Amino acid sequence: MGNYSSYCDISNTSSYATLNSQKNNKMIVGSIKENITLEKRISITPESAKNIIGLGLKVYVEKDYALHLGIHDNEYKNIGAEIKDTSKEVLKSCNLITKVNCPSEDEINIFKEDSILIGMLNPSKNKSQIDKIINKKIKPFSLELLPRITRAQSMDVLSSQSNLAGYRAVIDCVSEFEKAVPMMMTAAGTVPAAKILIIGAGVAGLQAIATAKRLGAIVSATDVRAASKEQVESLGGKFLTVEQSEDMETAGGYAKETSNDYKKKQAEMMKEALKKNDIVICTALIPGKPAPRILTEELVKLMKPGSIVYDLAAEQGGNSAFSEAGKISLVDGIKIIGVKSLMNSLPLTASSLYAKNLFSFIRNLYSKEKKDFNINLEDEIIENSLIKKV
Ligand code: NAI
Repeated sequence: MGNYSSYCDISNTSSYATLNSQKNNKMIVGSIKENITLEKRISITPESAKNIIGLGLKVYVEKDYALHLGIHDNEYKNIGAEIKDTSKEVLKSCNLITKVNCPSEDEINIFKEDSILIGMLNPSKNKSQIDKIINKKIKPFSLELLPRITRAQSMDVLSSQSNLAGYRAVIDCVSEFEKAVPMMMTAAGTVPAAKILIIGAGVAGLQAIATAKRLGAIVSATDVRAASKEQVESLGGKFLTVEQSEDMETAGGYAKETSNDYKKKQAEMMKEALKKNDIVICTALIPGKPAPRILTEELVKLMKPGSIVYDLAAEQGGNSAFSEAGKISLVDGIKIIGVKSLMNSLPLTASSLYAKNLFSFIRNLYSKEKKDFNINLEDEIIENSLIKKV
């Protein structure tokens, strides 16, 4: 990925590794509090701290690191992690810092030179911080850049968090929906099952299908990638096909942007589907691009009053008209929910999976023999996730 030599060369990296191993001290992994008004997840749980210590490393966390999640410092202390009074103490002593989001410039100022940072750094959004990180010879690894290969599955933060997003989307919709979801045959009469349409059958979409099926909904789904048909059907969903001649899947397994002809055909298919469905969950994304706009104003308005459009892509621009991240809009009796920071609604599970992803990444990066981090650029997991320049 990009030009590694633009910020440090491999000889620097190897001298860094040797220097640290000569000290024969344990390397220190640490983490500081996120801005908890915006981010409730943490990147080191007591369980992952125990695993990191098991590799032969030390763990430092800032005082009250996870108190907002009901996790007390003692839980970290009991497994051998050290609690530091301030974030500064952690940042200035750690060889490797883990974060959920990109650190602030003030925090970066305190980082040790030559240290390592791992998180979801979102380089295109956080250019000035990344610039500063690179200038300070800190090695920034952004886990959104991991290759989607089998060996990286245990580290795949996009999958672990999207899977939860798909689950939570259905739970949120069901709680907003003013009718029951499963079919019920009672003495007082029959309640019909709710119909849920999922747009985009990637990781989030497939989990949404599975969750909606478990709740008894009648589920259909659509995706531009032909390969997703079989996956949707294996979960008991009905696949809505848009006839196409081109291959809409990239070599990396992601979707391509659709042609105008495809968009027209997809809109025609949607017209019928939207009239019938009670809930639509939008998950369609194209890496590095704004989310595709699939539901126009005209299409949304075809839905029945009381219906719900839940837009998981709202923060990337939205799959649906009227959707705004962090807002619920009401249009002709249809609720359009623009999702924002969804992982804050299940931060314990999201943190647990994220911390496990991070541990797997650290285990791959750390050499027990050298007692040091081994930035081996021949390993595509390391090479792809290291940000070389902004
Ligand atoms: P994503 O979050 O980038 O997109 C979500 C879904 O939206 C995708 O299925 C995409 O095809 C679909 N989409 C995009 N534009 C659309 C449009 N205009 N209309 C309808 N649908 C549209 O994708 P995600 O969830 O990250 O998965 C991408 C691929 O990576 C999938 O094939 C997944 O199975 C694969 N994968 C592979 C892993 C591995 O380790 N081998 C791990 C995780 C995912």
